[in-house]
Amino acid sequence: MIHDNDYEYFNKMAHWSFDEFGIHEECLTDWDLYGLLRKIANKDSRILDLGTAGGEKIFSFFPDCAEILGTDYSPAMIDTAMKNLEASGKKNVSFKVMDNLDMDVPDEHFDIVVARHTCTDPVQILRALAPGGHLLMRGVDKYDCWNLKLIFGGGQGFNDPVPISITDYENVLKAGFADVELVPIHTREYFKDRESFRSFLEMVPILEDVSINGEALDDSLLDKYISGNTVNGQIILYRAYYGLSARKPG
Ligand SMILES: C[S@@+](CC[C@H](N)C(=O)[O-])C[C@H]1O[C@@H](n2cnc3c(N)ncnc32)[C@H](O)[C@@H]1O
Repeated sequence: MIHDNDYEYFNKMAHWSFDEFGIHEECLTDWDLYGLLRKIANKDSRILDLGTAGGEKIFSFFPDCAEILGTDYSPAMIDTAMKNLEASGKKNVSFKVMDNLDMDVPDEHFDIVVARHTCTDPVQILRALAPGGHLLMRGVDKYDCWNLKLIFGGGQGFNDPVPISITDYENVLKAGFADVELVPIHTREYFKDRESFRSFLEMVPILEDVSINGEALDDSLLDKYISGNTVNGQIILYRAYYGLSARKPG
């Protein structure tokens, strides 16, 4: 089930890295998805990583355990993940193409499902988890980069009547999860100059409805933001994410 044109975007992004912008990130809150993952997992754990992209986070941050499956609906992302897997020499990791909204994994198989910055269906995740299994999610919230979005008069989630964090929280509760916790995450991203900041905004969906691939990015609005949000020569972007943890009863 391929449902929107994000699909084309992610296929295009499969061979591309954010490293080139030299962003320095400072985290102001302490909810750490990978810290929790390492605390919950043990050597026998089976972990499913939904929307894994090229599996980069698996290779950098996931603990060693019995089985890790990374899935993504973009075949180009999974191609990249397979190349990364070959280079890693890991035997407990595998990847496959799968839509998070049409999950094709065995019922009650996984001890932990991770979904970081990707869409989810909590009902299908609950089915994939073994009794007592854990869900760890992180997402980009409505108020992400809000002062930038206010200047541009739009952007990702700008007109959502309910913030995505609340929708996810309610859907996870409704699906039947226990111990559901929703936690705000705030970070600052520092950019060294206007050029790297502008290129970054052209590549990401933050201003998606007011700037499509940079074509409509209004430079006077950009300069207005930069003049109000530059400290010690660095341009600051104020990020708002959310973390969500939950457990399948049993
Ligand atoms: C922003 S990236 C996040 C990658 C990784 N989880 C991380 O935290 O760095 C979002 C990923 O989710 C994938 N994705 C988006 N919608 C999806 C869906 N419906 N089913 C499966 N993958 C999806 C995209 O292809 C992309 O690789």
